[in-house]
Amino acid sequence: MQALFICVPATLGTLLCGELAMMVLDFLVKKNELGATRLRETPKRSLDEGQARLLVEKFALTANNITYAAFGEAMNYWGFYPAESGWGQIPVWGFASVIESRCPGIEPGERFYGYYPMSNQVVLQPKRLAPAGFMDGAEHRATLHAVYNSYTRCSTDPFHDPTTEDAEAILRPLFTTSWLIDDFMADNDFFGATASGTGLVMLSSASSKTAYGTAFQLARRTGIELVGLTSAANVAFCESLGCYRRVLAYDQLDQLDRDAASIYIDFAGNAALRRTIHSHFAHLKFSSSIGGTHVEQLGGARDLPGPRPVLFFAPAQIKKRSAEWGPEVLGRRLLESWREFIHTTCRTTDPWLMIEHHRGAEAVVAAYQRVLSGRDDPRRGRMLSLSDLPI
Ligand SMILES: NC(=O)c1ccc[n+]([C@@H]2O[C@H](COP(=O)([O-])OP(=O)(O)OC[C@H]3O[C@@H](n4cnc5c(N)ncnc54)[C@H](OP(=O)(O)O)[C@@H]3O)[C@@H](O)[C@H]2O)c1
Repeated sequence: MQALFICVPATLGTLLCGELAMMVLDFLVKKNELGATRLRETPKRSLDEGQARLLVEKFALTANNITYAAFGEAMNYWGFYPAESGWGQIPVWGFASVIESRCPGIEPGERFYGYYPMSNQVVLQPKRLAPAGFMDGAEHRATLHAVYNSYTRCSTDPFHDPTTEDAEAILRPLFTTSWLIDDFMADNDFFGATASGTGLVMLSSASSKTAYGTAFQLARRTGIELVGLTSAANVAFCESLGCYRRVLAYDQLDQLDRDAASIYIDFAGNAALRRTIHSHFAHLKFSSSIGGTHVEQLGGARDLPGPRPVLFFAPAQIKKRSAEWGPEVLGRRLLESWREFIHTTCRTTDPWLMIEHHRGAEAVVAAYQRVLSGRDDPRRGRMLSLSDLPI
């Protein structure tokens, strides 16, 4: 591989004068067969005026990213980093540093948290620059949702703590949703499930990080009994989290009182499980569709008994609370909860999240296949890198 020597500022750590790859390395998956992958190597192209090149230092990979791929076509997740026909680049959350810039206000060495491709480097077109960060102004991203086009400057970001940044890459996008789900449920008085006694709130894929974040928040509410539903292999892990009142394997649903006023918060997207729940409970007050971890068992909700499942749309709750509380109060509340959550996550004794690093093409492919298989240890948080930097 050819290499170029380029000087970069001290914020890139020990690599003050680093050897930066001339080649762009992208991890691609076949859109209609997510287990088929390949690495694409292309020479890096020169920057246009207004563009910046960022070295993608490291990124997280969880079932959330697999869901981006599974819904890539329907929800346009393939649109962020387009690839050649039939292939796609899965977007991931992570950290990148500017290594070259033709954009005034974006300086080499600055680090940004955001939505990157599974690559070693990326070219962005920063616009709407602010102390907090920038938006990518690339034309092909103009119609995509703003939350994914925003890049946050680590040096000014109150959520950022360099000592826990791996956990941040893994959990931040997930916990924001968790926090909003909890707020949404409380804001709607649990859809009447708590009106005449304790309401049953069931979470599927209870071992997932997003479900755990949701349970972490919901566990402080009164009037609800939190039930975690998971696969048999993950029951003990869910129990160890300490926030589910009960944890049941998917085939133990009949242990739950069918007359209980209940709510279903669905992270699994499993069509058969959804039907079982909707059929079992006579007083299902609300059914919320959040995710689709069970990629092999996804399906529609036609002719389902009970309430129609409602897709949870996090930006709508953000908009509502911004209007009611003001963006500053909303941001402050979220930050307070985040700090508490991350403190629990990264506690030195008995942390629930064990971070594992995977660097280099081979390791990235293996980690991807592991996450895709659905048989990964739920305690693992996987940080990947295709760059030459130590992570
Ligand atoms: N709507 C939103 O805004 C939003 C935001 C964030 C996340 N989400 C969604 O929430 C879900 C959870 O994401 P996450 O990143 O938190 O997940 P994660 O921590 O990586 O979840 C791992 C768990 O998911 C289940 N799972 C994963 N792959 C599977 C497979 N192939 N087959 C069967 N089960 C599988 C297993 O749980 P069990 O054994 O417990 O089933 C596994 O322990 C994703 O679908 C994600 O897209 C939605």
